[in-house]
Amino acid sequence: MAVRPILTAEHPLLHKKAIKVTQFGDSLQRLVRDMFDTLHAAQGLGLAAPQIGVPQRVFIVEMPPEVDEEGHEVAPAERYILVNPEIVKTRGEEEMEEGCLSVPGYRGLVKRATYVVIKGQDLRGKPVRYRAEGLLAQAFQHENDHLDGILYLDRLEGADKLWSIEATEQIRVTT
Ligand code: NI
Repeated sequence: MAVRPILTAEHPLLHKKAIKVTQFGDSLQRLVRDMFDTLHAAQGLGLAAPQIGVPQRVFIVEMPPEVDEEGHEVAPAERYILVNPEIVKTRGEEEMEEGCLSVPGYRGLVKRATYVVIKGQDLRGKPVRYRAEGLLAQAFQHENDHLDGILYLDRLEGADKLWSIEATEQIRVTT
């Protein structure tokens, strides 16, 4: 288990384009394992490699399990690992509320596509392709932005679209 420190918005690495992954070996596996450990410790929804100081084109998203009204798990958590991702199709647009582990204490309203198709590679370099809508589509766009050095703060259309929150409200909603 290796939880790594998460860089915050003022760090220059979060404003740079990350580099394409070309080595699909042990070090990539270790990186992704550390990313999941870090994501779990921070109780976030997604994390991009640059957020832990590794400027490579990798991100993860973990959708929480679905529970019914009695609290029983009806669908397990879903894990996504995207290496060298590319959003190849988008549809719709909606203003969505989001947060970021690199922008602690804040949330904002950002316009995102409501549906995306994303393609990329898995840990072994095999091609993968996912269709997503709603929260998952939003997470894919947010994490993909990190790989291009873009924070949701860069997409805010006005100062009134950003507000501060209590630390306890951040749980499970930040990426
Ligand atoms: Ni983020």
